Amino acid sequence: MLLRVIVILLGWTALVASDRVYVHPFYLLTYNQSTCDELKKVDAETTKEQTLTPVPIQAKTSPLDEVALKDQLVSYAQTLDAEDKKRSTSVGMLLNLVGFRMYKMLREKATPANGAILLSPVGLFGTLASFYLGSEDPTATKLQAFMGAPEKDQRCTSRLDGQKVLSALKAVQGLLLAQEKKGSSSLLLTTVVGLFTSPNLHLKQSFVQGLAPFASITYSRSLDLTTNPDLAGEKIDRFIKAVTGWPKNTQLTGISLDTTLLFTTYMHFQGAIKGISQLAKPQVFWVNNTTRTSVPMLSGMGIFLYWNDTKNNFSVTQVPFNENAFLLLIKPHNDNLEKIENIAFGQDFSHWMKNLSPRKIHLTLPKLVQESTYDMQSLLSNTKLPGLLGDEAKLSKISDTNLKVGKVMNTVLFELKESQGGQEDLFQSSEVAPLEVKLDSPFLFAVYEKKSRAFYFLSHVTNPLNGV
Ligand SMILES: *[C@@H]1O[C@H](CO)[C@@H](O)[C@H](O)[C@H]1NC(C)=O
Ligand SMILES: *[C@@H]1O[C@H](CO)[C@@H](O)[C@H](O)[C@H]1NC(C)=O
Ligand SMILES: *[C@@H]1O[C@H](CO)[C@@H](O)[C@H](O)[C@H]1NC(C)=O
Ligand SMILES: *[C@@H]1O[C@H](CO)[C@@H](O)[C@H](O)[C@H]1NC(C)=O
Ligand SMILES: *[C@@H]1O[C@H](CO)[C@@H](O)[C@H](O)[C@H]1NC(C)=O
Repeated sequence: MLLRVIVILLGWTALVASDRVYVHPFYLLTYNQSTCDELKKVDAETTKEQTLTPVPIQAKTSPLDEVALKDQLVSYAQTLDAEDKKRSTSVGMLLNLVGFRMYKMLREKATPANGAILLSPVGLFGTLASFYLGSEDPTATKLQAFMGAPEKDQRCTSRLDGQKVLSALKAVQGLLLAQEKKGSSSLLLTTVVGLFTSPNLHLKQSFVQGLAPFASITYSRSLDLTTNPDLAGEKIDRFIKAVTGWPKNTQLTGISLDTTLLFTTYMHFQGAIKGISQLAKPQVFWVNNTTRTSVPMLSGMGIFLYWNDTKNNFSVTQVPFNENAFLLLIKPHNDNLEKIENIAFGQDFSHWMKNLSPRKIHLTLPKLVQESTYDMQSLLSNTKLPGLLGDEAKLSKISDTNLKVGKVMNTVLFELKESQGGQEDLFQSSEVAPLEVKLDSPFLFAVYEKKSRAFYFLSHVTNPLNGV
């Protein structure tokens, strides 16, 4: 797998270096010559940058309208041209690699005993890209390499353009929703960024504005973070709950005493599968081979893409949310999920995806309400770049004044529901008996979009009703 990444990167370098007409899409994410010239001029002028001081957390804030935010993304997706789409595929590729890597890290270092994982490659990559936007060297170079697109030389034109990356992330989010009807809430994807600062921290305006494409909405709020850090954590949780109305349960704790900025990303997904209804009674779900629980389940029949990988001991069912967006359900034949995770959530995913073929299926799966929260700083502390988002980071484009990033939180809220418009029969009646696919023991799932080829969420479910 690593080899493949290296081959791709070498291929990119070779193509650009030899000045051939074909330009690899990564090229679309770096600065162009005219932007580079512009940047040089700005540097020479050393203008004082505008800053802003966030309003206090208790200031009145109107509640979030997720459907309206979704409609904006749907409209945006309709304006994308061919180059934007290419860019979204490049970013999709980079964020998948980051997601797979972080998934592995979590499994090795930070999972609870039951092995449950839920992460958003889009959220993690967007957080890295946000820090990239706020960084200067050497941090910027290291972050660029960590994001999977190392500089090919020292020239400005081989540096990622943070604005292009963040705009491409907006396109990626828009593509998931592009086929949705406006005003409908059957599929929602909302990204909220919270910048919680101590009262005297000045944020650079260009940084805060630069986050706009990645986040559906950004809240910059100030509060006393240090007198009573646990109370500060509670206040932030209460604020997010109040503005979003999300059923959020995880708590923000352990803010260190010298913190002046907390960077928090919340990704909310809600998906209703067409033609699937909730069963009247809760059904048995085996948490492990000795313990069972009773959970609400969804069920329905349809023609889904399916593949039984007899060599690697898993089967995949691809359930559509719309023409481009899918839920991939990965069911193991035995209980060696770890081995399957490596194959399913790895660089070679396209191998098993291309084997999927239509099959009449009777599908039963748990109704999911999953929540996870990870501190990326502590995740990265297990890598070769422990200080990348922490003490060693040069982040002068976020703020010049006593900046101390205390936490970089990534929270995911994932909800999978029954069809909203009642049950429609998805399959034309035929004589063939349907294949029974019942997810009643630990399984993996992913949310995938065809155009960007991006994975929005990766998860290992061990208990459908518990957070991760
Ligand atoms: C260079 O990039 C900037 C910013 O993305 C864009 O506005 C401009 O049109 C580009 N110039 C060329 C020559 O491609
Ligand atoms: C099964 O899960 C239960 C509840 O999480 C746990 O107490 C038990 O130790 C697990 N058993 C095995 C064999 O992992
Ligand atoms: C239950 O699972 C554990 C761990 O996965 C395994 O070692 C054990 O053999 C299993 N027991 C049965 C009865 O299948
Ligand atoms: C998938 O393959 C496994 C291993 O060969 C087999 O045990 C299982 O019955 C197959 N499942 C289906 C639905 O064909
Ligand atoms: C698949 O399962 C079979 C039987 O349990 C086992 O012999 C084989 O090693 C497994 N294959 C992989 C790739 O894990």
